[in-house]
Amino acid sequence: MKKRPGARVSTIRHMDRRCRVCGGELREFVDLGRQPTANGFLRPDETDGEYFFRLAAAACADCAMAQLVDEVPQERRYHGGYRYHASGSAGHRKHFEENALRLLETELAGPDPFVVEIGCNDGVMLSTIARAGVRHLGVEPSANVAELARAKGVEVLTEFFDERTAAGVRARHGAADVVFGANTICHIAHVASVFRGIDALLAPGGVFVFEEPYLGTVVERTAFDQIYDEHVFYFSVTSVRAMARRFGFELVDAERIPLHGGEIRYTLARPGARVPSPAVEELLAEERERGLSEPGTLDRFRGRVERIRDELVALLRDLRAQGRRVVGYGAPGKSTTVTNYCGIGPDLIPFVCDSTPSKQGHLVPGSHLPVRPPEAFADPYPDYAVLFAWNHADEIMAKERAFRESGGRWILYVPEVRIV
Ligand code: SAH
Ligand code: TMP
Ligand code: ZN
Repeated sequence: MKKRPGARVSTIRHMDRRCRVCGGELREFVDLGRQPTANGFLRPDETDGEYFFRLAAAACADCAMAQLVDEVPQERRYHGGYRYHASGSAGHRKHFEENALRLLETELAGPDPFVVEIGCNDGVMLSTIARAGVRHLGVEPSANVAELARAKGVEVLTEFFDERTAAGVRARHGAADVVFGANTICHIAHVASVFRGIDALLAPGGVFVFEEPYLGTVVERTAFDQIYDEHVFYFSVTSVRAMARRFGFELVDAERIPLHGGEIRYTLARPGARVPSPAVEELLAEERERGLSEPGTLDRFRGRVERIRDELVALLRDLRAQGRRVVGYGAPGKSTTVTNYCGIGPDLIPFVCDSTPSKQGHLVPGSHLPVRPPEAFADPYPDYAVLFAWNHADEIMAKERAFRESGGRWILYVPEVRIV
């Protein structure tokens, strides 16, 4: 049997369970049980000795940062067999092309600009920058996706970003006008080292821009499937402002963006370098009004998560009892959380289809639902399909219009269990 990457590394129990940002006391608010790594897709002959850890999230009593309690070592999460390819969705390609064009017109409009992207993945953002002939560097530890980026003309350093990597980049390429990250900064547990690296790398007037899943969305939509091993932090404007201050930066802009069901793009600068946008105060006030950082809010979230689990399992059992065929659509990291938390196995969902070639022929981690290509969906259409990739609902439902026309129905479970 082929050895899986990092097979001997064990879980990092977040020793004394203190906040990774400020050292404050952590209060656990949800326990999603024994879970594998969300993107640890297995070949059918690889299920022996599968890795599991306890997936639980907590919030810091001092700085409000929501985060995992235990974490999986980064080498086990990001390696030469990393399954997530950011360019897999047309929506993402468009979003990141627009992002790149906007940076080119604004922060990168000066003479000989330089941009560093942390976690550039397959080059979904930097390929546009490379085509424009602008100096750039992606820092991407997952060698397979880094190679895909290189094939698009993107310069990539196959390393984990930290203060040491940043110092090397600075020495070789000079200061960066922009350091960018998308759906990556929340993956990095060594947050103090990241900020020391940004400090070393960023030009005096430069900006650190990152867009990440939003705790406000997770709570509001009960999107508990955003919680998995890779997402170490669940940012809010409140917690990011505190984090920025702690590490010597200022939060100067915060903007809601529609990606992954609702994220926030944060802009950090050196203190006093930029006039903060009124959006920062507006979003902070909104979070205060909603009580986003209050324990009661997070306790109610847990109650809704448990209800979704009970209703989804009851529905799937009911459909099975009625002899209905149910399959899954999309095998994102989210599907690992949901199926393992709810105990959904191939007895309830015989397979999921997903467009990512490297997931096909494999099993969803832990729950071991087989992943098939999208063509399996229509062969023949099932009666019901659980939409695990619900953040791509518009794109997928449009593409699979014939499914509904044939009488098929979608099952959604965020923000609540319903059939559409
Ligand atoms: N930016 C893309 C990809 C996000 S997936 C998008 O928004 O869709 C997260 C990426 O971060 C992965 O490709 C992973 O390999 C990378 N990553 C994880 N830890 C990292 C670190 N310490 N430094 C740089 N990249 C990291
Ligand atoms: P994401 O939610 O993390 O972006 O992952 C989405 C998953 O859904 C990814 O594995 C690709 C898959 N997918 C499809 O199978 N078909 C589609 O049309 C889209 C947009 C995504
Ligand atoms: Zn804290």
